[in-house]
Amino acid sequence: MTDTFPFAVERALRGRVLSFQADPRLVGGAASHRYWEDGLVLVAGGRIVAVSEAAALLRRLPPDVAIDDHRGRLILPGFIDTHIHYPQTRVIASYGAQLLEWLQKYTFVEEQKLRQQGHAEYVARFFFDELLRQGTTTAVVYCSVHPQSVEAFFAESERRGTRMIAGKVMMDRNAPEALTDTAASGYEESRGLLQKWHGRGRQLYAITPRFAITSTPEQLEASGALVHEFPDAYVQTHLGENLAEIALVKELFPAAKTYTGVYERYGLLGPRSIFGHCIYLEDSEVAALADSGSIAAFCPTSNLFLGSGLFDMRRLHQHGVRVGVATDVGGGTSYSMLQTANEAYKVLQMQGQSWPALQAFYMMTRGNAAVLGLDDRIGRLEEGFEADIIVLDARATPAMAHRMECIDGDLAEELFLLMTLGDDRCVAETYVAGRPVKPKAV
Ligand code: GUN
Ligand code: ZN
Repeated sequence: MTDTFPFAVERALRGRVLSFQADPRLVGGAASHRYWEDGLVLVAGGRIVAVSEAAALLRRLPPDVAIDDHRGRLILPGFIDTHIHYPQTRVIASYGAQLLEWLQKYTFVEEQKLRQQGHAEYVARFFFDELLRQGTTTAVVYCSVHPQSVEAFFAESERRGTRMIAGKVMMDRNAPEALTDTAASGYEESRGLLQKWHGRGRQLYAITPRFAITSTPEQLEASGALVHEFPDAYVQTHLGENLAEIALVKELFPAAKTYTGVYERYGLLGPRSIFGHCIYLEDSEVAALADSGSIAAFCPTSNLFLGSGLFDMRRLHQHGVRVGVATDVGGGTSYSMLQTANEAYKVLQMQGQSWPALQAFYMMTRGNAAVLGLDDRIGRLEEGFEADIIVLDARATPAMAHRMECIDGDLAEELFLLMTLGDDRCVAETYVAGRPVKPKAV
């Protein structure tokens, strides 16, 4: 009799297992990850209970355990997206406008429709299907101004078993009447939603003043009060994305020295605060973000699509700002973190900056988990971690299979191919809490 496990293994995934141990930027590529050419990941109760060489674990596995055979394919932690808008699934690919016009012309029109709970539920279902199809298992999500959009979102997340961070957008000016709350109602509604959802199962709440243009000083102050009251909740907003936006912020807050200074004044900076874009920042703003441990979300497809500008990752890293990567759908043009990495690489190339594939995959998994303070739970394939796992196939399309013919076992080259040509077709399976959930293609 072989020795068995002290837990009832529910599922085993066999394949080429890759999990990051440290940031390749700091420790170099070789020391950054663990890799098993023929590995096995064992799952029980929604968690990973063992990861190792298949040969060693198979000997101990009870014969009735289902083995998902992904041999030849890569098994990684699910992708994490640090900035995305779920009410914008039908805004994606809207033609010909930069940020402020794009918001008025397309986004604010579509977001009004989430007032209807049934519509919000429909959009939430689509959104989760799409994220899971793309291998994204955790995201930091803007809902609309309507509390029911948040209810619909978290209810759907709970149903899917996903770990999500989301919040009600607060806007009390410079938006259509039907999309605005007030400083008081935004505070009360956010507080109620936060108390209901933050820490309920896998759900986490983000206090979400949309950006300084659509919030009065009173609303930013109320947001700061929420942060003070609930220090373990997240904060998300937008910062330094577009030159016209920045000029308008200066007009609206004439006393503030910088855009970041507006948020700082209201106590909105901190290690759980995620600032979308961060393209145009003065040195003092970079220092303020670094000193507070705030997170900059790099949204390359959005920054290109909306003509916003080029995110300077090297500068932010050099000054100690924590950086995450994100899609920013619907300003962003793809739900795929692989395609997001593809565009990120090009944005960095335009500035003479390199972004090795190991660095990219680190950031999309463990790195994004780390900036969110969740790297004790997600973003790694290790014992005790939540079993959010994806399986990637670098031969999923003819062009990729053809290119793979001359990639002879070099992991970094394979990852680079995946992030350059890959998309949902390369995601062979997505597991949430150990269950396979990738929707079938339409
Ligand atoms: N700034 C304020 N709102 C938004 C939004 O919805 N998308 C983007 N890209 N920037 C914003
Ligand atoms: Zn955004």
